[in-house]
Amino acid sequence: MANHIIISLIFVALSFGLLAFAFEPSPLQDFCVADSTSSARVNGLVCKHPASVVADDFFFSGLHVPGNTSNPNGSRVTPVTVAQLPGLNSLGISMVRADYAPWGINPPHTHPRATEILTVIEGSLQVGFVTSNPDNNLITRTINKGDVFVFPMGLVHFQRNVGTGNAVAIAALSSQNPGVITIANTVFGSDPSVSGDILAKAFQVDKSVVDQLQTKF
Ligand SMILES: *[C@@H]1O[C@H](CO)[C@@H](O)[C@H](O)[C@H]1NC(C)=O
Ligand SMILES: *[C@@H]1O[C@H](CO)[C@@H](O)[C@H](O)[C@H]1NC(C)=O
Repeated sequence: MANHIIISLIFVALSFGLLAFAFEPSPLQDFCVADSTSSARVNGLVCKHPASVVADDFFFSGLHVPGNTSNPNGSRVTPVTVAQLPGLNSLGISMVRADYAPWGINPPHTHPRATEILTVIEGSLQVGFVTSNPDNNLITRTINKGDVFVFPMGLVHFQRNVGTGNAVAIAALSSQNPGVITIANTVFGSDPSVSGDILAKAFQVDKSVVDQLQTKF
C-alpha cells in the first residue's frame, strides 16, 4: 500500500514536471485554426469549425519581400505569427524574417513566450544575449550565411549587421504568439511614463538624462 502511494506521488510529480516543460499546451486535435470573428476570450484563439477550414488557413505568402529598413534601428522584422497565419493557433511555433541595413540593429529585446532559433540567409550578424541576474554574462559572436544561433527563452538579445551589405535572417520561435518586449521602448516609452525619479535611480543617472530618453520613445 505504502509503495502504491509512493509510486502515485512519483507519477504526479513527473506529470507536473512534464506540464512545466510543455510551455504551450500540446494540441488535443489535428489543428485549431484561429477564428478571428469569434468574440470569445480564451487562452489562445477560438477554433474555426474544422469543416470550414481551407488550405489558405495554413498559408502565408510574402517572406521573399525585403522589409523596409529606413528607420532609426536600420532593421525590420516581418512576423508570421498566429496573427498572420491562423493555422498556427495552438501549435506553439512561428517564424519571422529580419532585414538589416549595413550597421542596422535589432535592438535589445526579449520574447516573453519563446526561444528563438535564427539562421543567416545573407550577410553577417553580430548576435548576442545576456544571462539573467546576478551574472549578466554577455554571450556573443559573429555569424555568417548558413550559420544558426539560438536565443534561450526570455533572455534579452540583439543582432547587428556587421557585413558590408544588407543582411537577412529567418528565425523560428517556439510560440504561436511569442511577443516582443523591446527594452528601450518598454522602459522609456511606457504609457503612462514610469516616473523619471524611479528611472534616474534605476539607471544611476541624472533625471535630465531620463527626460531626454523618454522623449525618444
Ligand atoms: C520605407 O520607409 C520610409 C520611412 O517610413 C519611407 O519614406 C519609404 O517610402 C519606404 N520605402 C518603401 C520602398 O516603402
Ligand atoms: C526598433 O525596433 C524595435 C523592435 O522591432 C521596435 O519596437 C522599435 O519601435 C524600433 N524603433 C524605432 C525607433 O524604429
